Amino acid sequence: MPEKGADFRAQQTATLSGMAHEMSVDKELGDLLKKLSKKKDLTPKQKRNIEESLKDYKESKKYTTEFVEQLSRVTSECFQAWQKSKKESNFKLYAPHLTKMIDLKRKEADILGYKKHPYNALLDQHEPGATVDQLDVLFKDVREQLVVFVKKIAAAKQNDDSFAYKNYNKDKQWNFGIELLKQMHFDFEAGRQDISMHPFTTNFSPQDVRVTTKVIENNLKSMIWSCIHEGGHGLYEQGLPSSEYGLPLGEAISLGIHESQSRMWENNVGRSLPYWKANYKHLQKYFPAHLKNVSLDHFYKGINLVKPSLIRIEADEVTYHFHILVRYEIEKLLMEGKIKVNELPEFWNEHYMKYLGVKVKSDAEGVLQDVHWSHGSIGYFPTYSLGSFYAAQFFHQANKDIKGLQKNIEEGNMLPLLNWLREKIHRHGKFYSAEDLCKKVTGEKLNFKYFMNYAKDKYSVIYNLK
Ligand code: CO
Repeated sequence: MPEKGADFRAQQTATLSGMAHEMSVDKELGDLLKKLSKKKDLTPKQKRNIEESLKDYKESKKYTTEFVEQLSRVTSECFQAWQKSKKESNFKLYAPHLTKMIDLKRKEADILGYKKHPYNALLDQHEPGATVDQLDVLFKDVREQLVVFVKKIAAAKQNDDSFAYKNYNKDKQWNFGIELLKQMHFDFEAGRQDISMHPFTTNFSPQDVRVTTKVIENNLKSMIWSCIHEGGHGLYEQGLPSSEYGLPLGEAISLGIHESQSRMWENNVGRSLPYWKANYKHLQKYFPAHLKNVSLDHFYKGINLVKPSLIRIEADEVTYHFHILVRYEIEKLLMEGKIKVNELPEFWNEHYMKYLGVKVKSDAEGVLQDVHWSHGSIGYFPTYSLGSFYAAQFFHQANKDIKGLQKNIEEGNMLPLLNWLREKIHRHGKFYSAEDLCKKVTGEKLNFKYFMNYAKDKYSVIYNLK
């Protein structure tokens, strides 16, 4: 959309949001759902579909059309203000809009109702069932265990990744990425890949799943791991039950579970030594001049640098969680009304120094880097960390369940893992809650120790730690 189109588009989406809202709270719909929920002869799947639909209906009923339209309008304005203020690295342009947004979000928490903490109401929109109590435990572990571990890594001998920043022909990169997706069994008859500024996955049905990647000439890492990451999202979407299309059970459980799928492929698989035993020779053939003198060991260590940095989306898989920790702390304070929007840059910079030890030089590289708050997405960031933690726990289990999984990956045979994911996770759609799924698949609820053990095992070898 051209820039000038944004104003009318804001009006259009506000009107459409209002209309969609009115349909979602239609009395006839509610009566039908209530009647159906009392029926005794429902199958378990039908029962879950009705439960979820009724839950959505009841939630929607809490909002007035006026509020929905107002939120839509403020979101459009806030997003535009964010774009401009990021470009100019001037937080002041954004602050009044974000303040309006936060006020609305606090109002929204009250509208929805919550137990214990207003943040729980918003969290539930992205990660049903997740609570501040649960996240506080996880992030306490991040603060206490991960910070110590990263300090150990920082004191070790550092590895080199300069090979990744030479000029890599974009077309060749693209072709290699397509091959990786094919190896994962991403179904190109039910999906496609395109280029975008920010990689994402979108779907219209399990038979039409679209992923995007970003190809940068002097950064080989960007294309490879955004490709694998979005491919992981795409496989989940393609594996959702077609028989439940259009119904709640045809959808993903939560953002955290969605992200577990992308991150398992991206990190647990795609940044592992077996994966590159399978693929490195092939990559070298694509780029002989760049990589012929880079050994597999050098490459593997180079793609797994752990190094605190300013930008979340460029962070490694370990320090990444400090970025989320800062955002989580801010969001909670905002919802409690204990911090004002204009105090955010200072808080941000202080905490980046505290947890990551990096100095933020401009707001564009600091508090303005992410789009999420401008969309009104509060309670979204923690799902990224949840995704990594679920991924580690699932992958641990996959290695127990699938005999020779590491060997399969080493041979470029991704089918056993995909079949396991299909069977254990994808095909269920939204039948289970995230917590129940985790228990069903791994025998226990989400536990940070699986991520911590994964990180320790992997990086102790890479950095030669005792
Ligand atoms: Co993702």
